[in-house]
Amino acid sequence: MTVIAAEAIGVAHERAEDYAGLSIAELDQRIAEAKAKLGERLVILGHHYQRDDVVKHADLSGDSYGLSVDARKAAAEYIVFCGVHFMAESADILGRDDQTVILPDHTAGCSMADMADIEQLEEVWEELDEILGDAEAQVMPITYVNSTAAVKAFVGEHGGACCTSSNAEPIVRWAKSLRPKMLFLPDQHLGRYTAFAKLGIPLDKMLVWNPNLRYGGHTPEAIREAEVLLWAGHCSVHAQFRPAYIKAWREKHPEINVIVHPECTLGVTNEADYVGSTAYIIKTINQAPAGSMWAVGTEINLVNRLQSNNPDKTIVSVSPFACLCSTMYRIDPEELCWVLENLVEGKVMNQIAVPTAIKQKARLALERMLEIAG
Ligand code: 13P
Ligand code: SF4
Repeated sequence: MTVIAAEAIGVAHERAEDYAGLSIAELDQRIAEAKAKLGERLVILGHHYQRDDVVKHADLSGDSYGLSVDARKAAAEYIVFCGVHFMAESADILGRDDQTVILPDHTAGCSMADMADIEQLEEVWEELDEILGDAEAQVMPITYVNSTAAVKAFVGEHGGACCTSSNAEPIVRWAKSLRPKMLFLPDQHLGRYTAFAKLGIPLDKMLVWNPNLRYGGHTPEAIREAEVLLWAGHCSVHAQFRPAYIKAWREKHPEINVIVHPECTLGVTNEADYVGSTAYIIKTINQAPAGSMWAVGTEINLVNRLQSNNPDKTIVSVSPFACLCSTMYRIDPEELCWVLENLVEGKVMNQIAVPTAIKQKARLALERMLEIAG
C-alpha cells in the first residue's frame, strides 16, 4: 500500500493512494465488511453535506448540532467522522478520553472556521478591554461551532458558549440576558440573521468587526454604542446565493417555496419563506405536500439528495451554479474504506486529538451550548 504524507491545515495527513482504482461496488463491499468486523466498537457519523457514496455508510447522519449530541452519547471506541475538521474536533472534545475520533481526510477543513484564528481573537479581546475597560464584563463571546478548538476554548474560558445554526436563537438570547454586548464569530451572517430576525436587535446596533483592522475598523465611540459585534467571516458556499436568484424563481414559478440556510446573507434570508439548519430544511421538505415545489439555498449534495428522497416534489437549488462545499467533498469512499480497514488491523489513521488544555476549556463552551439549547 502506498501512503503519502502531506501537511495540511497544520496537521499531518495521510492518504491511501492505491484505493483510487476501486469501483464503488467494491468499496461498498469492503466498507461493509470492515464495519461488520468492527461491530459496536465503531460508529460512523455523517454530515448532511457529505456525498451520497459516503453518507450511505453512516450509522447516524445529521446537522452540526445533531452530530455533536450523537458524538457525546456515542458508546463506541472509534468515532469515524465524515464531515469537516471542526466537527471531528467537537466530537473529540465531547467524547470520552478512551474514545478515538478519526477524520478520514485531514484536509477536509472549513474556510469559515479558518477566518477566525486564536491570535486574532486574543488581539480583538485586548482592544475591547482597552475601549470598554473590562471586556469580560461587557461582551459575551459566542462562537458558531464552525470554529477551531482554540477559538472555542477562548470562548469557554471567557464565559461564552458555542452555537449551531439550529440553536443560535436561544444562545444569542442567553448572551443578551447576561452582558450588554456580544461578539459573534466567525459567521457574520448567522449572527446578523439571528440578532435581527429572531431577537429584533436593530441593524444599526451591529458592527462588522474586521480583525485585520485596528478596532475592527471602527471608532471607540461606535464600538461603545454597538450591541452586537459581528466577526467578518462567512461561508464561501452560502455566500454565493443571491436575492436576485430567488426573485427569478418566483417570477417563473409563483407557487415556489423558498427555504435557505441562515449562513446565507440577510438579503437572501429576507427573501426566503423559511430559514433554518440543514436538519430543519430536510424536515420541512419531507413533510411538505406532494406536488409542491422548493428552491433550496444550501449545499448541493443535500439539495440533490432531497430531490431523490422526495420524487413527488420538485426541488431545485436557489442558485443556477452548483454550490458545493469542496472541503466536505474531500471525504471520499476510498479514504473511508482505508481508515476502516486500518482500524480492523488495529491501526488508527488520521486521528483528531485536541490537546487536553484546549479540550477542557472548549468543552465548557460546547457543554454550555448543550445545557442552554437542551
Ligand atoms: P448545520 O449543520 O448546522 O446545518 O450547518 C451547515 C454547515 O455549513 C456545516 O458546516
Ligand atoms: Fe464551512 Fe460552509 Fe463548508 Fe459548512 S458549507 S463546512 S460553513 S465552508
